[in-house]
Amino acid sequence: MNTQKRMTLTRLKKMKRDGQKIVCLTAYDAAMAHWVDQAGVNVILVGDTLGMVVQGHETTLPVTLADMVYHTQMVQRGNKSAWCVADMPFMSDGSIDKAMEAAAALMKQARANMVKLEGASKRILSIVEQLSELGVPVCGHIGLLPQLVEKNGYRRAGQDDASARVLEEEAVALEQAGAEMLVLECVPSDTAKRISENLNIPVIGIGSGKESDGQVLVLNDILGTSLGGAPRFAKNFLQDKNSIQEAIEQYAFDVRNGHFPLES
Ligand code: KIV
Repeated sequence: MNTQKRMTLTRLKKMKRDGQKIVCLTAYDAAMAHWVDQAGVNVILVGDTLGMVVQGHETTLPVTLADMVYHTQMVQRGNKSAWCVADMPFMSDGSIDKAMEAAAALMKQARANMVKLEGASKRILSIVEQLSELGVPVCGHIGLLPQLVEKNGYRRAGQDDASARVLEEEAVALEQAGAEMLVLECVPSDTAKRISENLNIPVIGIGSGKESDGQVLVLNDILGTSLGGAPRFAKNFLQDKNSIQEAIEQYAFDVRNGHFPLES
């Protein structure tokens, strides 16, 4: 039974400073958010992956702001203590005004604690700056960007020195613009390590080795229920357990103790 107080940004930053791994997992509805929270997961991400693992789309692109609000509302009914991050869906950050409205809906109607945006273009940096100035906590997301799949495909990022350097510059620019957390998706482990050491904000990796301040995975991937299978870097934690609750607890334990992911 999780009797934790509500997670705050201050506590997440302290966890980073103290070298305590931050456990993050996606959830999309009240029941699963309850079990994820009960397992002691620190951060619940209401990811736009819901388009793929819940709605059955091939990509995250069809997900709407109304979908994100609906799922985040459900998650926040089931979640009592984890910090809740909601994704800004594809094109909701197409202009400053649209981004402000989307973030307002996610924070006010859906009661997210933080919003997440993909990329580090000039436009994104300026949105991060304005949201942050208005008091909206923002999580950046660089590396593989699922919302750019039609343009770039699902490609690992930072595969040569020059592109790894670009990732490091993007990470610094996001922190300077006011981002309070950063997701690194599918970047090389040594790049993730350098970025995590270089920033003061928590850096959460996915498919990026074990050196970040924390890890995130998609809930359906750790339960083996993702349509079309899970990415290679994920692990099915349910296969040798008796319940979903035990599987999520094992994921949290393994991240916290550096047993997941195994490769550096
Ligand atoms: O949408 C999502 O679930 C995500 C994670 C894969 C990081 O952004």
